[in-house]
Amino acid sequence: MALTEKLTITHIELTTKKPDITIREFATEREAARAVAQTILSTVIHKPDAVIMFPTGQTQIPVYEELVSLKEETCVDFSKIHAFHLDEYVGVAPEEKESFVGFLREKVFDPLHIPYENRYEIDGMAADPEVEAKRYNDLITTHPIDLVILGIGPNGHIGFNEPNTPFDRETHIATLSQEVLFRDEKRGQQPFTHAYTAGIANILRAKQILIVGFGEEKGKEFDKAFNNPPTVQCPASALQRVSDRVTAIMDTPAAAALNAGKQTK
Ligand code: GLP
Repeated sequence: MALTEKLTITHIELTTKKPDITIREFATEREAARAVAQTILSTVIHKPDAVIMFPTGQTQIPVYEELVSLKEETCVDFSKIHAFHLDEYVGVAPEEKESFVGFLREKVFDPLHIPYENRYEIDGMAADPEVEAKRYNDLITTHPIDLVILGIGPNGHIGFNEPNTPFDRETHIATLSQEVLFRDEKRGQQPFTHAYTAGIANILRAKQILIVGFGEEKGKEFDKAFNNPPTVQCPASALQRVSDRVTAIMDTPAAAALNAGKQTK
């Protein structure tokens, strides 16, 4: 084989290998939360009308506290951003404690003074959920996402994309898994069985993807998602497909669990 042929083959091999997902580890949950908030802030500084998709969940509470305090310190203007969210229970009203829309209004949309016309909310009480899912998907399609922030669920779910969701699925209504029903019951929540969620396909198209998790249990989910080949049984593993656009932000206990898993493979 001529030397040039060898070089060409080597070049192809090198360029087809996907880079790893960027991992950022912080000593404490608070420092990690601040780093997530700083990324959101710098996205808005560079693009004041950025399209940002926000998640809910316990993990995001310190993130949003840090984001609001950074906004107050810097006076960065969030009034032009387009604010989407990832998911919402079917049949929930914004004033109910389980509502993701209610959570985001209180912790993000109101404190950041995002105008009502720039909030793209899923209507949990919509009369026809299929029509509502399509309406939201059309909105996402016409507003390409600059930044999506994700948490990770007890079975590797992202948004409410539960295991066995095809990676090319767009916004849809998910039937919630036993793990989620069990978790929600433990948290003293009403037993919602279905939820709207942006699909994995919508998430993978975002220009930048942050996934956030704190503590050993979330680290074990990261291990399943990142240290094994992508599989529909672990929805977060789909992020490997666009690894150059993904950053995982975690604290030391989560990173230790992620690394421990890597060493056993
Ligand atoms: C929920 C939401 C996800 C969230 C995840 C983790 O079910 N659908 O969007 O990221 O579970 O939530 P938490 O941070 O409360 O553990």
